[in-house]
Amino acid sequence: MSGVSWQYKAAVFVLILAATSCADVRRHYHYFLDMHYSPAGDTAKWDDIGNRQFDMQEPDYTITYGGKPAYPYQKDVDVERASRELVAPANFDLKRGEKYYQIYCSPCHGLSGNADGPVAKKMPTVRKLVGQPAESYPLTRIYHIATVGQGTMKGYAPQVREEDRWNIAAYVKNELQKKK
Ligand code: HEC
Repeated sequence: MSGVSWQYKAAVFVLILAATSCADVRRHYHYFLDMHYSPAGDTAKWDDIGNRQFDMQEPDYTITYGGKPAYPYQKDVDVERASRELVAPANFDLKRGEKYYQIYCSPCHGLSGNADGPVAKKMPTVRKLVGQPAESYPLTRIYHIATVGQGTMKGYAPQVREEDRWNIAAYVKNELQKKK
């Protein structure tokens, strides 16, 4: 191999790398962890914290058996009751809240909550999360909206775990709305 130039060796090396790195689709590095493995939801199964997966609603005309019931507040109609009755956890991870806000909420609501994310340009109904009325919402109401949605906004329970929806709500309340 002594007659072979280093450029040639480098090229062969890169080719081998290129040919092998796609062999396994479930390779162990990825840039968008949260989107790489989207978990399959099954309303009939229990997850490891004793709740129904993703806080999904049971199908109509079925009865919850044992354990905690599914998330009991409906989109829009129960927003007032949910913000009154829900109890926020004692601690939050605001760093995680920031991270998940930026992934799941900022495309519409914008990095600073001013409804200026890239999607908002095509979706005029997006609302500001800083300033009124959102600033007068309790944490629980933001959590409720993040969970089931509101109006034209979809809920994020299928994509974001319960604890991270709380973290997002706390980030909006305690950092975004305070910063401005
Ligand atoms: C696809 C765009 C989109 C994404 C992503 C999105 N929202 Fe929204 N959001 C909306 C729209 C549109 C509305 C107004 C809905 C309505 O009332 O018709 C809204 C409304 C809200 C409101 C109520 C504001 C008000 O003035 O009443 C809150 C709180 C909120 N969103 C939080 C979030 C959080 C937290 C996330 C991330 C988990 C999120 N949103 C992700 C589009 C989005």
